[in-house]
Amino acid sequence: VIEDVRVRKILDSRGNPTIEVDVITWNGFGRAAAPSGASTGTREVVAFPEGGVDKVISELEDVISSELIGMDAEYLEDIDLILKEIDGTENLSNIGGNTTVAVSMAAAKAAASSYNLPLYKFLGGNFATSIPYPLGNMINGGAHAGKHAPDIQEFLVIPKGAESIQEAVFANSKVHARIRELIQAKDPEFTGGKGDEGGWAPKISNYEALEIQARACEEIGDETGVEIRPSLDFAATELWNSKEEKYIYKQENIKRDTGEQIEFVKELIKTYKMFFIEDPLHESDFQGFAQLTKEIGDKCIICGDDIFVTNSEILKKGIEIGAANAIIIKPNQIGTLTDTYKTVKLAKENNYIPVVSHRSGETTDETIAHLAVAFSAPIIKTGAIGGERIAKLNELIRIQEEIPYARMAKLPER
Ligand code: PGA
Ligand code: ZN
Repeated sequence: VIEDVRVRKILDSRGNPTIEVDVITWNGFGRAAAPSGASTGTREVVAFPEGGVDKVISELEDVISSELIGMDAEYLEDIDLILKEIDGTENLSNIGGNTTVAVSMAAAKAAASSYNLPLYKFLGGNFATSIPYPLGNMINGGAHAGKHAPDIQEFLVIPKGAESIQEAVFANSKVHARIRELIQAKDPEFTGGKGDEGGWAPKISNYEALEIQARACEEIGDETGVEIRPSLDFAATELWNSKEEKYIYKQENIKRDTGEQIEFVKELIKTYKMFFIEDPLHESDFQGFAQLTKEIGDKCIICGDDIFVTNSEILKKGIEIGAANAIIIKPNQIGTLTDTYKTVKLAKENNYIPVVSHRSGETTDETIAHLAVAFSAPIIKTGAIGGERIAKLNELIRIQEEIPYARMAKLPER
């Protein structure tokens, strides 16, 4: 039974304020913090009400705690329902999706702790037996880096051949280090600066970044014997110019219309053997997504982030037309754990791979590592380097140690 709910303002990795919530039950305790995005999807729930975390603390903390005190933390669905009722809007704009998601996750952790269980076991039970592969961020561009960095937002790698989570995270960190050397060789003036998600933020073109990414995967793959494959998040909504109806690549001074963008993405998938591509088209272009998935979805995972925003109703529409074969799962895009799970369940029932993901603005909160294991998600996207990224990766190492019978997830063939 919940005895208290406490809200505080803490720092996120960009130095911005975010919310952390403690839920205290008579025999348990849960703490969770909310992250925040920079290239957010238009249809995400609103992160904070006007007035931000301060407003939540000064005006809403009492309202929320007085509603939740006395409730059983274990009845998560009821708690999430109450949170949505307190808010009263469809997009959670009155109390903020970051407020609801932090309360929801803290309540789940309090319930788990009252059973003396880690969160992944409390939520996933006997199904929590697979460890996700880490999709690590190597080079940052777009909205996550300065204006001289590549236009493509994320150059990622996945250590597909790793046999343990340790092998996987260290393979990623080796690629990360090798990429720095390769950038330095290209640009002796590179200072080692990083973008929001801990990838390097170099002054190089998209093609140079692609070449470096591919070479580092190959070299570290040979060195370690672990197959490592490149992947990309275009975050294409950010590239789109609605007046010109074109995707703008500033580095090469190239503009691509939708057809050209689809051809470009297909060419990159073939040339570099991309394993995973996220948001290759504008978030409203369901048709374009469907065409790309139909034409090349058997060779590469096509994943929707801003297009689906972890929303089961929107995902349903995507499933109907075959818009993708994977979906990014970010709990704060939808606001509660219950709704997050609803989307994961719908995805799995329709062979959409759930990819549990961090945001560009993160905290050291490690909850998503537990969610990925609880949901049996085969992939977790949580960077490679940086305190707020390794918080999740190191938690996966601890989880693997707790359940030695768990194996690395089965990745789809691509
Ligand atoms: P965001 O970006 O957290 O800044 O929205 C991450 C992503 O696009 O995957
Ligand atoms: Zn994305």
